[in-house]
Amino acid sequence: MTVTKQSHIFQGTVAARVPSVVSGDGIYITVEDPETGERTQLLDAMTGAAVGALGWGDPEVHKIMAEAAKETQYSYPAYLGNDYAEDLAEFYINNSPSGAFASALWTGSGSEANENALKIIRQYFLERNMPKKTKFVSRNSSYHGYTIGSLSIGSSARAKMFEDILLPSSQCIKVDPCYTYRNKLEGETDEEYGTRLIDQFEQVILREGADTVAAIIVETLPGSSLGTTPPPKNYLPGIRALCNKYDVVFMLDEVMCGTGRANPNGGLNCWENWLGEGEGPDIQSVGKTLGSGYVTIAGVLVSPKIHAAYVNGSGTIMGAHTYSGHAFNCRVALKIQERVKELKLTENIFKVGNYLGKQLKEKLSSSSIVGNVRGIGGFWSAELVKDKVTKECFDVDLKVGPNLQKICFSNGVTVMGMQGCNKGVGDHIMFAPAFTLTHDQADEIVEIVVKSVAQLEQSLDII
Ligand SMILES: Cc1ncc(COP(=O)(O)O)c(C=O)c1O
Repeated sequence: MTVTKQSHIFQGTVAARVPSVVSGDGIYITVEDPETGERTQLLDAMTGAAVGALGWGDPEVHKIMAEAAKETQYSYPAYLGNDYAEDLAEFYINNSPSGAFASALWTGSGSEANENALKIIRQYFLERNMPKKTKFVSRNSSYHGYTIGSLSIGSSARAKMFEDILLPSSQCIKVDPCYTYRNKLEGETDEEYGTRLIDQFEQVILREGADTVAAIIVETLPGSSLGTTPPPKNYLPGIRALCNKYDVVFMLDEVMCGTGRANPNGGLNCWENWLGEGEGPDIQSVGKTLGSGYVTIAGVLVSPKIHAAYVNGSGTIMGAHTYSGHAFNCRVALKIQERVKELKLTENIFKVGNYLGKQLKEKLSSSSIVGNVRGIGGFWSAELVKDKVTKECFDVDLKVGPNLQKICFSNGVTVMGMQGCNKGVGDHIMFAPAFTLTHDQADEIVEIVVKSVAQLEQSLDII
């Protein structure tokens, strides 16, 4: 292998340097080629891994950060707190449906949030003297992060090489994903499909014994592994009802789809698309747009039910991370969220994002390789197939998703190209722009993507 230019960063591509982001301005980023020093401006339709809410280089955020640097001080979370962590928790609770959440733990990443959520669920049942509840039921083709616990409840190509060091499969049970495009049967309605999947969850609970099942864990709107496939209307309410029936914790992972990315009410939670007041999850992880790429923050929100078990039990949580609830991160994240709310950006991305999705659907409908365009609000995917009628997937080795990402990149727009949505095979690209997206920018994204798909078709010799 020829190493172009030495890198000392042990992440992503080892040894060779990848392009560096040198600046950002609204919906654009500028990257520098490490070899030539050439700089290119890209329309950032994906904001990294769906982190962008406010857009890049926002002078208001820079001001907020300067103030926060002066006004915050480190506090060790095991026995000290800070007002900013409290205020951010209050903001999330007050801007969620009434009674949904009672408390929050602020972490540094989504993986860390999910890792903590598993432990919180475990301790919750110990607080209630139910030690046999140790099993987590989650879904195939899901992603919850890269820590060992998060990988164990996930199931994607990314977990494959680590399988032998994960939690045992007898403890982390997987059911089918909710994947209407491929798995809904001929003649089945959306509702019947949803019911069939709920029945599968119930069969697993009955087979394993409700007294051993701790939680059902799903991504509300699945992100990178499955590609933003919305569930049938009855799916999440069905899981909620099952969890109530069998005393199982209902956990939603909203790290990628939450915190304003796809909320129909100008609020924070993606689940509000399907679940009403009193139907929310018992525990929820969040991240990404919470800090909008400016600070490293994610979190776990717990419902009054879980909170009460701890208050009435030991009153303490086992485990503290040195940087949990970090005052600077919490203060900046809070100000960012207040600004998103003030500027009504959640409403904007829901409206303009849906316009983006509609345009992608329309303009890509004549492509011979775009089988399905799906999503909600500011979170969309296009699945790429070899045959639109049979939905046959491309050979994995062709790397169709990642290649389309590269072509889009060279044409001036960022998207995320993924593989493995259909049991390890299948390709899709994703879109998650900043909440400031305008109709003109949406049109520009669509135009470049349509052109890029045509180039890909040509290179695959499909047309
Ligand atoms: C649904 C979901 N959960 C968890 C994570 C992990 O978050 P992080 O990369 O911040 O650790 C991700 C990251 O993409 C995600 O999409």
